[in-house]
Amino acid sequence: MVCFKGVRWASLVVASVLPWTTQAIDNLRVQISVADNILKGHIDGRVVLMFAPNGTDPLDDTDVTSTPNKMFGKNVFEFGVKDIVTLSGGSPNNTATGVSGFPLISMDEVPAGTYRVQAFLNPYDKVKRNDGSEIHLKFPCGDGALNVDGVGSLTTPAVDLEVHGGRQTIKLTFDSVAPAEAFVGKEIGGCSQGNYADTAQLKYVKIKSKKLSQFWGRDMYVGANILLPAGYDAADKHTRYPVLYDQNHWTGGEGAYGYSYNAAFATAWDKGVIPGTNGTKDRPAPKLIIVAFRHEAPYYDDSYGVNTANLGPYGDAINDELIPYIDEKFNTIAQPYARIQDGGSTGGWVSAASLIFRPDLFGACFSSYPDSMDFHRHQDIPLYTNKNAYQKANGDRIGSIRVFQNDTEVVLATTEQENHWELVFGTSSRSSLQWDVWNAVFGIQGLNGYPLEPWDKVTGEIYPEAVEFWKEMDLSNYIASNWDNTKNLGEVLRGRIYIYVGTHDNYYLNEGVAEFEKNVNGLGGPNWANVTITPGQTHGGNYQRRQTWDYLELVSNWIQDHSPEGKTPLSKKSTKSSSRGNKFEDVIRVGGHAAALKRQQSPALSYKEKVKCGSTITATAGRWDPGVALQAQWVVNGHPSGASFAVKQGGLVRYASTTKGKRFELKLRVTGTKRNYKDETRESNSVLVGKK
Ligand SMILES: *[C@@H]1O[C@H](CO)[C@@H](O)[C@H](O)[C@H]1NC(C)=O
Ligand SMILES: *[C@@H]1O[C@H](CO)[C@@H](O)[C@H](O)[C@H]1NC(C)=O
Ligand SMILES: *[C@@H]1O[C@H](CO)[C@@H](O)[C@H](O)[C@H]1NC(C)=O
Ligand SMILES: *[C@@H]1O[C@H](CO)[C@@H](O)[C@H](O)[C@H]1NC(C)=O
Ligand SMILES: *[C@@H]1O[C@H](CO)[C@@H](O)[C@H](O)[C@H]1NC(C)=O
Repeated sequence: MVCFKGVRWASLVVASVLPWTTQAIDNLRVQISVADNILKGHIDGRVVLMFAPNGTDPLDDTDVTSTPNKMFGKNVFEFGVKDIVTLSGGSPNNTATGVSGFPLISMDEVPAGTYRVQAFLNPYDKVKRNDGSEIHLKFPCGDGALNVDGVGSLTTPAVDLEVHGGRQTIKLTFDSVAPAEAFVGKEIGGCSQGNYADTAQLKYVKIKSKKLSQFWGRDMYVGANILLPAGYDAADKHTRYPVLYDQNHWTGGEGAYGYSYNAAFATAWDKGVIPGTNGTKDRPAPKLIIVAFRHEAPYYDDSYGVNTANLGPYGDAINDELIPYIDEKFNTIAQPYARIQDGGSTGGWVSAASLIFRPDLFGACFSSYPDSMDFHRHQDIPLYTNKNAYQKANGDRIGSIRVFQNDTEVVLATTEQENHWELVFGTSSRSSLQWDVWNAVFGIQGLNGYPLEPWDKVTGEIYPEAVEFWKEMDLSNYIASNWDNTKNLGEVLRGRIYIYVGTHDNYYLNEGVAEFEKNVNGLGGPNWANVTITPGQTHGGNYQRRQTWDYLELVSNWIQDHSPEGKTPLSKKSTKSSSRGNKFEDVIRVGGHAAALKRQQSPALSYKEKVKCGSTITATAGRWDPGVALQAQWVVNGHPSGASFAVKQGGLVRYASTTKGKRFELKLRVTGTKRNYKDETRESNSVLVGKK
């Protein structure tokens, strides 16, 4: 745990520019110290340094598509009051100096000019999860997991500085800590313990999740914003309402509806009357309870609402702890037909996954422009077949963010740019940004406890062995794999999945939806899942771009139709508990720390009874996590023999014994290195070669 004093702007430490005095290879260096009243003890964390255009606030725009700032990041370990962190240089693979830059690679490329310069230190807590993995992570504090200036971040003053373009050292001092109050409004109690003030229509709940707290070894909370319909009477337990679970990003903040909030909607909602337009009459609003979850998590502003080896049992925390709590407190209809999931983008995936993994709990999902529904296209990356996440086979760069101008696609950021931009904010998938949280949610734990990344974030090289583990979170693959087994998803989910996306989706999410449709409707027939792909439409808006009320009436009609009195009641068969998936015990068995240890193997010499002089001895390099580079060394009678050499994972190593005479002992020593992994040396069994 980290202890700060909540001092903000306690002392104004003005940065100074010194001429270069000592010999060095790097031109521009930034040295950052910390004022003594800021920090108690030592912390690990991520330093982010920004050179913003003169006259602008460095935090105004840190986006990958505009990048007005030159940004650089570096990890610190055991950083304390007496320490100075120096940032300089920067290499494409950030191995040399630990500095990752965007859009420039090295600090030496910062052009001469006047900048507003500011640095932040995003502190990590050291945690040991109950599966045995130990990592350093930022835990959000009611602020939606901000990745630079969140609660507890150390900050230097923003100062105007001249970069000369020659040798120069800039000195900065962390002199303030972002206080909790600035981010949580009136959230009582700050970090995770509190809540916002209720209004007549809007209630806030929060619970300490037993399962999450057990996993993380610290108190973990999940909350919800609950929007009650007009006329709701808490005391009237007979009048009960269906629930729309609206999945979204972080929906914190005093008065946050978490749902299509605008003044006109709020007024109409509170009255329970949809105002008529152009001669149509006013009509009653659908009677629903709308629930938006607050589940900021380590890794992102939203946990993706499922059980994962990296984030823990968020699916269980929401579905088996928070929803029952809500059902107890409010007059809900706690039946699958009356529980609808919806959302867009991240929320699109979360709503679809919630239904697909828990058909026993929810009735249907109306999922708009969802994150990758089928990893044959992860955004636009053909994840199962491509060798690289950043370029196509023909060398073209793969786009990540696009707009259309007169029907012509304009790429605003490539997958490479966006991934490298994320590297400024964190290594080991800790940037709290999009590609990183996908690594955390869709993937399993690596041996180092962090997400086992599906590709090298620097080069884009895809690791098929890591991607293999993503298949359980590939919703299309998951459905197909459980089509007619005990889960029986082919029957269970028929007619319950509604998906909408536009062909001009700004994040290429239409590609994954098209793959999903091809796969599941290929199995189940054209209307097995109701998929709408609208030509020319971009990312955003309600399901099928409907007006809000029109959409809510659609949902309400689905519920009526599928109620026990409706035209097409939801059958008990399709909500059996055997249809449930994504069980945490399975997730952690395949993807947790014990599984990571079990995956590893030492190098091994193939051992034959009579190894003679002149025979060839083969060895395997062992099994290591994908991306670990291996250097091997033969060891004879306990001493290195010959030069070390590189070996490939899965490759065979041969030793041709030519030594005559004495018997000797042979083994293979292999050292594995990977960015953000500890170097590790493993030795094979030894064999005795030669005559007795
Ligand atoms: C930098 O911005 C300030 C105002 O924010 C202005 O006074 C100053 O002239 C600018 N400097 C340069 C070099 O543009
Ligand atoms: C990292 O980049 C540097 C500079 O481009 C290069 O010399 C070095 O070989 C690279 N290392 C790895 C492991 O790719
Ligand atoms: C109402 O009528 C006006 C004028 O005919 C039209 O522009 C507008 O789109 C209509 N609004 C709705 C909600 O139908
Ligand atoms: C789009 O087309 C219109 C009409 O041809 C033209 O005036 C406009 O400049 C075009 N916009 C872009 C961004 O190309
Ligand atoms: C798909 O769902 C929409 C919205 O409920 C509906 O309008 C449409 O008719 C459905 N399509 C099919 C083929 O059932």
